[in-house]
Amino acid sequence: MRRAARYGPWALITGASDGIGKALATRIAAEGINVVLCARRKSELETLAVKLTADHGIESMVLPADLADAQDAARVADITSRLDIGLVVLAAGFGTTGSVLETSLSEEIQLVSVNITAVMRLSHTFARRLATRGRGGLVLFGSIVGWQGVPGQANYAASKAYVQSLAEGLHDELASHGVDVLAVAPGPVASGFGARAGLYMDSATKPDVIAKATLGALGRRKIIPGNKGKLLTASLLLLPRRIRSLVLGRVIAGMRASSTTTRARHSTPGRAVRGTDTRARERSGG
Ligand SMILES: NC(=O)c1ccc[n+]([C@@H]2O[C@H](COP(=O)([O-])OP(=O)(O)OC[C@H]3O[C@@H](n4cnc5c(N)ncnc54)[C@H](OP(=O)(O)O)[C@@H]3O)[C@@H](O)[C@H]2O)c1
Repeated sequence: MRRAARYGPWALITGASDGIGKALATRIAAEGINVVLCARRKSELETLAVKLTADHGIESMVLPADLADAQDAARVADITSRLDIGLVVLAAGFGTTGSVLETSLSEEIQLVSVNITAVMRLSHTFARRLATRGRGGLVLFGSIVGWQGVPGQANYAASKAYVQSLAEGLHDELASHGVDVLAVAPGPVASGFGARAGLYMDSATKPDVIAKATLGALGRRKIIPGNKGKLLTASLLLLPRRIRSLVLGRVIAGMRASSTTTRARHSTPGRAVRGTDTRARERSGG
């Protein structure tokens, strides 16, 4: 069955203003499926919606929402109940970097709200809606960092372990209801993620590579998209979990150091990296 017939007529994509979510929204629209684009940045969503409708003749709806906010997440569930949504891609998420002694508590709580609570809430809502329809797809984003503890990204890695596990469990619960649940575990991807987390990731996999592999894997249980993610996983999986943690901790520290060096080289007065912004404000009491 063509994907538009199996997963249309509408798809909801969270995290559609940037990176993997934007690339997925673009590919989904190109397949003739109408899209609901959700993230915080309304103007990015509006620009994308206009482009996708012009390029592919599909309908597009912009749904600005802060998924760290339970009321906004509930509003997303409410507004989309009027549409026949067959495909749900929950790509909104972000990472933080630094030891627990450095990170901001409010930012870590926000991370849990976006990466875990909103994903659980929307999965719960759409699992029921899709099962009632008898066909559909649900795509959740874990990460290769979710398979072990990662010093320097402990809370982010833990949030991705949750999502990976949730998706695998839902896959089996919903398969007999005609709903395909896919757990996607990318390696490093060159998107807005690096800037927000304070990591240098410019040579990482392009978001469209992840999007193409993800759509191609609908129906499967899980996927590690992109050659870099596959290579990293293959080399790490041979090691004991404890050693994997140490290796990934070093990798994150290296990406963080490069990020600091690169930022210092290219820094413009008054322009800050989003992830470090909140921490600086909190320390100064702002
Ligand atoms: N990039 C990587 O290396 C990598 C690796 C493994 C897994 N992942 C996962 O893949 C997913 C997509 O990441 P990406 O690489 O595409 O990152 P990205 O380019 O930074 O995009 C993240 C998206 O999430 C949205 N978002 C963030 N906070 C939000 C909030 N509070 N409410 C609503 N939307 C919010 C952002 O939009 P606004 O800022 O407009 O809200 C943006 O559209 C994430 O779950 C990430 O954890 C990424």
